[in-house]
Order: sequence, then C-alpha cells, then structure tokens
Amino acid sequence: MLVCDCNDVHFDEIKEAVKKYGNDMEAIMEETGAGTACECCLEEDCEKVDLPLPSAIKRALQEL
Ligand code: FES
Repeated sequence: MLVCDCNDVHFDEIKEAVKKYGNDMEAIMEETGAGTACECCLEEDCEKVDLPLPSAIKRALQEL
C-alpha cells in the first residue's frame, strides 16, 4: 500500500518506523522520507496515494 508517491514509501516501512517512534510524525517523516516533497500525503484526502501518512500511522498503531 502506497503511503507517499514522491518518495515511494509503503505501509510496511511506516509500520517499522511507528515501532520505533510511536506517533511522532516528524521522526517518521525523517526516517522514511514520507511527506517531505509535495506534502500531498500529509493530507487525509490526498489522491496520489492509497493511505496518506496520518492514516497510515493510525493504522500501524492499531496493528502493533
Ligand atoms: S506524495 Fe508524499 S510527499 Fe508527495
């Protein structure tokens, strides 16, 4: 599942970062690169990705 199109970041990478950093979005962005280019994927309604970053973090926290 694509979370960030610009930097080709997928949900499994976000999940790994959430394991380390919890819901610290800035740390997750720094670690994965997600959301650091056009910033579309920081918005829940971004149409470029399957699961925008805030939703991906929430989902990862639920699954862990
Ligand atoms: S889609 Fe994530 S920064 Fe552009």
